[in-house]
Amino acid sequence: MLYSDKVMDHFMNPRNVGEIDDASASGTVGNAKCGDIMKVDLKIENNIIVDAKFKTFGCGSAIATSSMATEMIIGKSLDEALGLTNKAVAEALDGLPPIKMHCSLLAEQSVKAAIKSYYEQNGGIPEDKKNLFDVLQEDEHSV
Ligand code: FES
Repeated sequence: MLYSDKVMDHFMNPRNVGEIDDASASGTVGNAKCGDIMKVDLKIENNIIVDAKFKTFGCGSAIATSSMATEMIIGKSLDEALGLTNKAVAEALDGLPPIKMHCSLLAEQSVKAAIKSYYEQNGGIPEDKKNLFDVLQEDEHSV
């Protein structure tokens, strides 16, 4: 299987690994088929993600996509982070083999699970954003 240099870089030197002690919200997701698990902590101030860290118990593609996803959302508004798709994460890594696309879905889902939790703790999920969390029900890749 051929991985891009960027995938290898983020797998070998993952960014933003760890936990945030005073996280505003966390999201943990897993894939039932492969058993891999991903947890993302977010620090949110004034609707901006000021920090993000992850812990991934999973394959190299899951580690690389969670690393890239955290890089892509730090400094972004919640709305912008909600626009993050697994396809965009995979593209930022110069692609993933088709059989590994489901790994990138975990990255999208973990970010969305954390934002959903944040909304639930802070007045509820806005009505116009509820459909953005449908992806949390998916267990397979969506490209
Ligand atoms: S094989 Fe499970 S996330 Fe990659």
